[in-house]
Amino acid sequence: MAELARFVFMTCQVGAEPALKAEIARDWPGLRFAYSRPGFLTFKHSTGAEFSDDFHTHAVFARSTGVSLGKVTQGTPEERARQVWQMLADRPIADLQVFPRDTFEPGFRDYEPGLTDESRGIDTLLRSVPEAPRCVAERQAPPPPDPKTGPLVADVVLVEPEEWWIGCHRARRPVSAWPGGLLPLELPATAVSRVYLKMQESLLWSGFKMVPGQTVVELGSAPGGASQALLERELLVVGIDPAEMDPMVLSHPGFRHVRKRSKDVPRREFQRADWLTCDINLPPNYTLDTVEAIVKAPGVRLKGVIMNLKLVDWKLAESIPEYLQRVQSWGFRQVRARQLHHNRQEICVVAK
Ligand SMILES: C[S@@+](CC[C@H](N)C(=O)[O-])C[C@H]1O[C@@H](n2cnc3c(N)ncnc32)[C@H](O)[C@@H]1O
Repeated sequence: MAELARFVFMTCQVGAEPALKAEIARDWPGLRFAYSRPGFLTFKHSTGAEFSDDFHTHAVFARSTGVSLGKVTQGTPEERARQVWQMLADRPIADLQVFPRDTFEPGFRDYEPGLTDESRGIDTLLRSVPEAPRCVAERQAPPPPDPKTGPLVADVVLVEPEEWWIGCHRARRPVSAWPGGLLPLELPATAVSRVYLKMQESLLWSGFKMVPGQTVVELGSAPGGASQALLERELLVVGIDPAEMDPMVLSHPGFRHVRKRSKDVPRREFQRADWLTCDINLPPNYTLDTVEAIVKAPGVRLKGVIMNLKLVDWKLAESIPEYLQRVQSWGFRQVRARQLHHNRQEICVVAK
């Protein structure tokens, strides 16, 4: 018999909560908003119906999601850790994810969402108490994510230092196997900008099979953090940007800079491309017009596109379904959108 829960939780970027609530109201009209703190929300069914542990949503603004079983707030950290496993005792837990809710908007006073020393300490504590399932205590590798039978992962969301919200979800895709949907990668010392991590995350989330030697055209490539992530995969990168590239990227043998605005670039540059990425700091309709002109040009045959849509105003979140329909109308079979861990007030759209 499947276990059931009365609530589901979602985490998101601080500032994205109204967009996430509006998205849920539009796509899951049976759900009612129940509780929230910045970056953390819970919902329930308006009818009182319960959720199975299979619950998931592809909401653009939900960085992580699962069923919510309640919170632990009482006792010492060790007592709380034991209570966590008592709450999950009936479930075949295969892995554990401990992560904090975001505390500020990304970039506010240099704040970057991610795991913290505190969340890593609590993760270690949870694995050390006697009630921890053996696979979690021994840090056994869980079965790989699977769209149908993903392993069941325990979630401990640190909403406040002494308020841990407990839940679980199935790891169906690589992103849901990352704690809190947070990319488990550090910025290398040689990266020219944090956009390196944004590109790594979009490549992993998209699942695009980019093969060494293929050509990627990047619109808005300067200063070059994203190019570095592509070059690391031995792709050939054509960076289109009127601004200056970092010398480290410029000197890479796999990189070529076309120092122009995209509309001034000869068509043949795009006809040779396998993949297109677009990260220009202008409103979504400008990005979509720019990419559409390339995708629809004669002789251009792209395997896939990755684009960032800058939500210069949060109100633009309401138009996301129209943006996705527009991309689909260019002939792509699969179009998906997500606000990535490393996105600011923007979303990533992939089409293939
Ligand atoms: C957010 S930055 C790109 C960051 C870059 N992807 C990286 O990894 O460092 C946005 C860039 O878009 C460029 N840009 C704006 N409009 C453009 C256009 N029409 N064609 C090409 N680049 C454009 C800007 O010059 C700017 O360098």
